[in-house]
Amino acid sequence: MKVAFFDTHGFERSVFADENRGFGHEITHFEVRLGEQTASLASGFTALCAFVNDRIGASVLEKIARSGTRLIALRCAGFNNVDLEAAGRLGIRVVRVPEYSPHAVAEHAVALILSLDRKIHRAHSRVREGNFSLEGLVGFDLHGKTVGVVGTGRIGAVFAKIMLGFGCRVLVCDRAENPELLGLPGIRYVELPELLRESQIISLHVPLTPSTRHLIDGPAIERMRSGVMIINTGRGALIDTPALVHGLKSGKVGSAGLDVYEEEEGIFFEDLSDQVLQDDTLARLLTFPNVLMTSHQAFLTAEALSNIATTTLKNISDFEAGLALDNEVTAAANLRKSGS
Ligand code: NAI
Repeated sequence: MKVAFFDTHGFERSVFADENRGFGHEITHFEVRLGEQTASLASGFTALCAFVNDRIGASVLEKIARSGTRLIALRCAGFNNVDLEAAGRLGIRVVRVPEYSPHAVAEHAVALILSLDRKIHRAHSRVREGNFSLEGLVGFDLHGKTVGVVGTGRIGAVFAKIMLGFGCRVLVCDRAENPELLGLPGIRYVELPELLRESQIISLHVPLTPSTRHLIDGPAIERMRSGVMIINTGRGALIDTPALVHGLKSGKVGSAGLDVYEEEEGIFFEDLSDQVLQDDTLARLLTFPNVLMTSHQAFLTAEALSNIATTTLKNISDFEAGLALDNEVTAAANLRKSGS
């Protein structure tokens, strides 16, 4: 099938090319993101393959439906960037990769925690400049600390078990309890207010839905322990960023590890190193010594990329063959899941 890939990057092209040997799709790569200005590129492609920051709202969907697109294959897990209701109405089906490596994301969250705690980012810069002083680099033992995990689906469950291995007390919350975690000594399901109140480290692993948008806002931060570490590898808009900046300035938030940012579209995945950063909130975040940001790279392992390619190409083949689409997302199913 002829497939147009949008927002493609060098790190994934060769992986898709290798995996596609077994599928035989005709792939055209576009480096631009799919959006209002680029929707015309989709003309003649029944299937489009999109990524996390392609903006696929109603008017883009109307344009691509008119030019013949019938499938959007997301090569990611999250689907908050697609207007599913409009897609359904226009007869465009949407598939995704629900799971590719929960370990990749969970392990990245742990990397952020360890780096922030032990100030590895600061130590690395210092040592390279010949500054071997230890002043300001005191960390804390993870052992015995209370870690809160918001969302215990695939990624949150792996993350919770890793933190158990460090000897942490793990508080988890979710609308539905994960049987994998029930009965594990050291892990306890609680309501969100208790998790916020008790945890020294809070890590977010829920999808972005209307009910989780700005889950961490000013009042939520007020309820937290002083000096709390907040980790977000979920979606940027789970956190109200100005509220986080306020919390960091006051010292209420001790540190933050962010792989996602609510205004990341157009910034993350790009080399903007020779430009003036226009986003003042992001610029402010980057000034804090106790903030560590990565550019939506938590998924980026060889294993995850290979799984993403295989599932995406199979989703497209299943659509082409008229088979049931196991990984389809629809507005109705999403509404049932999010309860919103
Ligand atoms: P999942 O669907 O397995 O788990 C999500 C969990 O959140 C479910 O257990 C669900 O019941 C819970 N949940 C949903 N709404 C809730 C609410 N309002 N309150 C409490 N719990 C709620 O998803 P998975 O695979 O664990 O991924 C989680 C999120 O991580 C994805 O939605 C995506 O946004 C993000 N992600 C980020 C990546 C990155 O590279 N930074 C890569 C992959 C995923």
